[in-house]
Amino acid sequence: MTFKDREIQELQEVALREIQAAQSAEDLERLRVKYLGRKGALTQILRGLGQLDPESRRRAGQEANAVKLALEEGLEQALKALKTAARLAAVPAVDVTLPGRRLPQGRLHPITQVNQEVCDIFLHLGFETVEGPEVELDYYNFEALNIPADHPARDMQDTFYFNEKVLLRTHTSPMQIRTMEKRRPPVRVIAPGRVYRRDSDLTHTPMFHQVEGLLVDKGVTFADLKGVLTAFVHQMFGPEVGVRFRPSYFPFTEPSAEVDIECVICRGEGCRVCKTTGWLEVLGSGMVHPAVFEAVGYDPEVYTGFAFGLGIERIAMLKYGIDDIRLFFENDLRFLRQF
Ligand code: FA5
Repeated sequence: MTFKDREIQELQEVALREIQAAQSAEDLERLRVKYLGRKGALTQILRGLGQLDPESRRRAGQEANAVKLALEEGLEQALKALKTAARLAAVPAVDVTLPGRRLPQGRLHPITQVNQEVCDIFLHLGFETVEGPEVELDYYNFEALNIPADHPARDMQDTFYFNEKVLLRTHTSPMQIRTMEKRRPPVRVIAPGRVYRRDSDLTHTPMFHQVEGLLVDKGVTFADLKGVLTAFVHQMFGPEVGVRFRPSYFPFTEPSAEVDIECVICRGEGCRVCKTTGWLEVLGSGMVHPAVFEAVGYDPEVYTGFAFGLGIERIAMLKYGIDDIRLFFENDLRFLRQF
C-alpha cells in the first residue's frame, strides 16, 4: 500500500466518523464541502495524483473514486436519518399505560330486535316469511279483504291516500291476498312490515310495524288459532303469563278475536297501563272469512284457515315496560342505548 492509498483510506474513516456525528443538515452540508467540494480534501488528493507513476496513479484514482461514492452515500443516509428523527420527535409521546379508547359500537333498534324475535318464534313454528309493498292498491288493502268502498269499517283505519286507487297500506293484511293469489294451500306465512295510519298519541304513531300471519289448509280450526297464538305469547312473555281470547270484529275474519295478555306490569292486579283491567291487547285475529277465500279463488267449502295481525311497537312497549310509543321514533341515543 502506497502512502497515497493510506492517506485516502484515513480520509474516508475520519470523514465517515464526522458524518455520523453530524447533528443537522447544515453540519452535513459543511462536511460535503469540506471533503467533496471544489477545494475539498478528497478533491485535493485527486489533484495530487498527477505526480505519481502510472500504476500507482491508476490504483489511487480507483480508490479515491470509491471513497467519493462512499462519502456521498454516507451523507445521503445521514440526512435521511436526521429527517426521520425530526419527524418522530414531532409526534407526542404515547402513554402506553392509559386505558384504550372504546370504539362506539352500533346496535339494532329495539323495534328491529323485537321484530326479529317475533318472526323467529313463528319461523320455529313452521311459518315462512313473505314481504310486500307499503304503497298499496285499495283493492288489496280493503276491497279483497271484504271491505267495499262504502263499508263503515274503513273508518276504523284512517288512511293516507295518494289517489282514489292508491294508498299507504293501513295494515299488513293485504299480504294475505297477495300470498293466496300466488299459492295454493297449504299456506303458512308471516308478513312483517311498516304500515301507516292518520293516528298519533301515547300508544299510536302514524307509522308503525305489524306482523301478519296466515295459515290455510284443510281442516284448520279455531283451536289451531288458539294453540299457535298461545304458544307465541308464552314464548314471547313467558309460560306463566295468562292469555285471553276476546270476541271482536274484523270484516275479513269470522269469527274474530282480539288476544289479550295478563298485564306484564301489574301481573293482572290492575294498574294505569292496563287501565285497571289487568289485561293488555296485543293482536287481532280470526278465521279467514269465506268472502276473502272467494276473492282469491280458494273454495271455502274445502279450505279453512286463520289469520292474525300484531303490532310490534305494542309488544316492545309491553316487553320493556315503555309507556310512550313515540320514544321509539325520536332516536334519542340515551333511550336507544338501553337495548
Ligand atoms: C288490524 O290491523 C288487522 N289487520 C289485524 C288482523 C289481521 C285481524 C288478521 C284479523 C286477521 P288493528 O287495527 O286492531 O287490526 O291493529 C292490529 C294491532 O296493530 C293493534 O293490536 C295494535 O297493536 C297495533 N296498532 C294499531 N294502530 C296502531 C298505531 N297507530 N300505532 C301503533 N300500533 C298500532
